[in-house]
Amino acid sequence: MDRVIKYIESNYDKYIDELKEFLRIPSISTLPENKSDMQAAARFVADKLKDAGMNRIEIFQTEGHPLIYGEWLGAPGKPTVLIYGHYDVQPVDPLELWDNHPFEPTIKDGKIYARGATDDKGQMFMHIKSVEAYFKTMGHLPLNVKFIIEGEEEIGSTNLTPFLKQNNDLLKCDAVLISDTALFSPGTPTITYGLRGLAYMEVEVTGPNQDLHSGTYGGAVDNPITVLAEIISKLHDKDGRITIAGFYDDVLSLTRKERENFKVLKFKENGFAKQIGLKELKGEKGFTTIERIWARPALDCNGIFGGWTGLGAKTVIPSKATAKISMRLVPHQDPKKIAKLFTKHIKNLAPSTVKVKVRDLHGGYPVITLLDNPATIAASKAMAKAFGKKTVFMREGGSIPIVVEFAKRLKVSPVLMGLGLNTENLHSPNEHFNLNHFKLGIKSSAYFLDEYSK
Ligand code: BES
Ligand code: MN
Ligand code: MN
Repeated sequence: MDRVIKYIESNYDKYIDELKEFLRIPSISTLPENKSDMQAAARFVADKLKDAGMNRIEIFQTEGHPLIYGEWLGAPGKPTVLIYGHYDVQPVDPLELWDNHPFEPTIKDGKIYARGATDDKGQMFMHIKSVEAYFKTMGHLPLNVKFIIEGEEEIGSTNLTPFLKQNNDLLKCDAVLISDTALFSPGTPTITYGLRGLAYMEVEVTGPNQDLHSGTYGGAVDNPITVLAEIISKLHDKDGRITIAGFYDDVLSLTRKERENFKVLKFKENGFAKQIGLKELKGEKGFTTIERIWARPALDCNGIFGGWTGLGAKTVIPSKATAKISMRLVPHQDPKKIAKLFTKHIKNLAPSTVKVKVRDLHGGYPVITLLDNPATIAASKAMAKAFGKKTVFMREGGSIPIVVEFAKRLKVSPVLMGLGLNTENLHSPNEHFNLNHFKLGIKSSAYFLDEYSK
């Protein structure tokens, strides 16, 4: 073990250079013009798995972006861990708000800035490097390892979901390890045991059959933008609760024990607000901020458009107005059921002066993982060793829809050992990854393989 850790320490600069190379590939999964970059990123991952010492590397082409598989099964009798990550990244806009180009990784104050640095290229790369350290020093791993790396996490894991169903044997394992979440705070080893789910909807309100002059028609017709704004404003009550009938029916209540555990973490509401330029926070009455984010559902309008949105003035009553609305869900809410309740509710709210279309864009199930499962215990010990501190357990407000599929198809309780920070601007300009956490993550991964092999 000492040799593995020493190897990691002495190869740190090389690892960062390789990570930079990875981050230069603009693997934006949602944009058709980046399709060939997705292939290049998949190649990169496959090559690095091979260089690390893994066997049976395969790039599986799908109808979307490729999946990469690799394995090393040279430890019969020992458990098998499946490591998951994603090489796709979010779009970079607004580009003008970046201090450096998103695909020219730049190091400042011990942080590497680039799109995908923390979500998820940097985090996923840690595991390839820990495996490499074992092969280079010991010639073998302490247990069996499989990798499955996808390129469609940011667009709903469309092809990994059926792949899981069809390749149960290939992916069969005793534990799934994922680094795609955050630490509770810088330097605090953290295991995440819950993620929220998601129901993402679009509401389109249509009034007149064409855009109208607001002088010749204004005052005589209902305006779709006003109607949409009214609908949106009715989705919460004065206590910050979501008004959709039946919305809370399946919500798993917080236990007193869990609320106490959250309190022990000493989350600083003031600092949290300040960081994002706010004087005051707002949310569902009766819950603290971390309870609201981790264990309560939320409904947010993500975008709204209609009418004239360009520079200057144009006098127009638009024919249509549209809103994108997401709902973050908690166990045991079902995104399909919630989408139906939402649709019904919106239709009920719509006045007879307009037509309303509701589309279900995509969704994902919330998850809660087991804390007493051997892999979780091993990960918690591993992180504590790497960081020299006690590991804390938290839940998370974000979503990784494939996690539930792993639990369901492979019958294992996934372990979320994330090394990011929620302040690292994932999905926004100046995304970055703390290089100290990168290093601690490689060590945590190495300790995990050792701990779990016991
Ligand atoms: N890694 C994130 C999920 C995440 C975010 C975990 C913040 C911990 C903290 C993941 O890549 C992501 O962005 N998920 C999407 C869901 C997807 C269906 C687009 C999300 O949460 O919006
Ligand atoms: Mn991610
Ligand atoms: Mn993401």
